Amino acid sequence: MTRLAGVLGWPVAHSRSPAIHGHWLAQHGLDGAYLPLPVHPDRLETALRGLSALGFRGANVTVPHKVATCAAMDRLDAVAGRIGAVNTIICHDDGSLEGRNTDAYGFSAALTQAVPDWRPAAAPAVVLGAGGAARAVVVALLDAGVPALRLCNRSREKAEALAAALGGPIEIIAWEDRASALAGAGLVVNTTSLGMTGKPPLEIDLDDLPAAAVVTDIVYTPLETSLLAAARGRGNPVVDGLGMLLHQAVPGFAAWYGTTPHVTPELYAAIAASL
Ligand code: ATR
Repeated sequence: MTRLAGVLGWPVAHSRSPAIHGHWLAQHGLDGAYLPLPVHPDRLETALRGLSALGFRGANVTVPHKVATCAAMDRLDAVAGRIGAVNTIICHDDGSLEGRNTDAYGFSAALTQAVPDWRPAAAPAVVLGAGGAARAVVVALLDAGVPALRLCNRSREKAEALAAALGGPIEIIAWEDRASALAGAGLVVNTTSLGMTGKPPLEIDLDDLPAAAVVTDIVYTPLETSLLAAARGRGNPVVDGLGMLLHQAVPGFAAWYGTTPHVTPELYAAIAASL
């Protein structure tokens, strides 16, 4: 009867998902387990097909499997189809696999929890980066109703491809022009890997950014990136990347274990302490 789920990645030891789901399983006293599942890319499809046979209710998927998993699903929900990546799998009773993507939800939920008075329709948003994480953030912001989205990436072609795939009021900004793109913005999101431990910092002059604009970084190692430190120093509200990681886990847990968990200060502190 024990309900099983887990996370497929390669490598997977760094994943915080077992700690997040383990915290909730213990908190709610549920008969369930959530396992790290190291799966080599060559065996991804075999592993995915095996989930139902092993009695798993579903799984999360992390780097490098999020895009490849799409092709192995029997169906995708609308958000996973738009993002072109799956992070959450539901194993249905008939053996079919449904791919979902909860990263956009996680981003929005974290932002709303941290800054409840952020008004998406009030001002343009600036997104730095056009990789996999950017796609989820852009979907979240378009769905939230931002009036304009300034997409700024080092490789312009990737930003153009993302805009063409998702549609909506996206304006492509050259990487060199990132500082001036901040004028009049209500939100800035770093989705690049810049600022992550071991990578160069994100260099951006914040002088043109309105003082009320929210600054968020999806990097969570470290929790306080140099971007967030600079924004905090000039009085902008800031949101770190850990909230998105915690909130993206909520829908999967609810689907597999039948209880909707909460992202509490205790969970945040426990995972932050493990980083
Ligand atoms: P993820 O799936 O986590 O978003 P990714 O797809 O590799 O990872 O994307 C990384 C992002 O960081 C990209 O937007 C990348 O810019 P490019 O598309 O030009 O590669 C950005 N990035 C990484 N290193 C960078 C650097 N030194 N300067 C500017 N942008 C950088």
